[in-house]
Amino acid sequence: MTETATMTESQPFTSDLLKGKKGLVLGVANKRSIAWGISQALANHGAQLAFTYQGERLKDSVEQLTATLPHPAPLYACDVTNDEDIQTVFKKLDEDFGSIQFLIHCIAFAKKEELTGRTVDTSRDGFHLAMDVSAYSLLALTKAAEPLLEKEGGSVVALTYLGSEKVIPNYNVMGLAKAGLESGIRYLASDLGKKNIRVNGVSAGPVSTLAARGISGFTTMLESHRGRAALGRNVEIAEVANTALFLASPLSSGITGEILYVDCGYRIMGA
Ligand SMILES: NC(=O)c1ccc[n+]([C@@H]2O[C@H](COP(=O)([O-])OP(=O)(O)OC[C@H]3O[C@@H](n4cnc5c(N)ncnc54)[C@H](O)[C@@H]3O)[C@@H](O)[C@H]2O)c1
Repeated sequence: MTETATMTESQPFTSDLLKGKKGLVLGVANKRSIAWGISQALANHGAQLAFTYQGERLKDSVEQLTATLPHPAPLYACDVTNDEDIQTVFKKLDEDFGSIQFLIHCIAFAKKEELTGRTVDTSRDGFHLAMDVSAYSLLALTKAAEPLLEKEGGSVVALTYLGSEKVIPNYNVMGLAKAGLESGIRYLASDLGKKNIRVNGVSAGPVSTLAARGISGFTTMLESHRGRAALGRNVEIAEVANTALFLASPLSSGITGEILYVDCGYRIMGA
């Protein structure tokens, strides 16, 4: 922490921790997105950010948000199911930034009809789509980012959820995708560790976002989390964001291949 670090109740915690560091954030859709919360935390600590958005539909929203950041932020269109999009993003990022020190992956998708009822009824198409967008994308993006991350060493952070290891009603195929994502985090950490590229996950408790509202019964999920969590409340985006900031920063230099739970102590409870 630097001498300029400040924290008051009304103001966000700011410092120069990430001054001179650059990174790419994927998964901002709107102001409620976890990716946007993380971006604000990273920017509050001096980082310079670039962003992707999923198609023209979201461009305006992402443009308006990123215009509020202290540094100009390049924006690139990217549908992660499209290899050409991924190649183009990293070509432009190389031109704009030259190197990056972190990559933040906040992307997941499953068809609405797969997020209700029985997991046994998951369609082959629905399975492929959820896995492609939510798990394979981390491999494809990390591979494309490797030349930029290895220049100074770097950190990849992906967002995940407890539905990877426990049965959460209606999370269904997304639980399988998150299990794949978390396994991918460990294999990528092993592949890239010698290049000083770390790969970790943040497992967040439920937060009301666009993606979360696609899960049938999400409000009940929020209530049951609040009732059971050791802290007796649900997590705030800023708390998830600060953990991602820690993992993206040199403060976590000895941590790789791990999942950190930011769930107000829900996972530790037996009942
Ligand atoms: N909200 C929660 O309760 C919660 C809890 C734990 C983990 N997470 C994870 O956090 C991450 C961010 O989700 P969020 O809750 O902030 O919701 P969100 O809807 O704000 O973000 C999801 C993002 O995924 C992007 N996306 C989906 N398909 C894509 C594709 N084909 N190509 C490119 N981008 C695509 C969307 O554009 C969007 O920006 C996800 O990985 C989610 O699983 C969310």
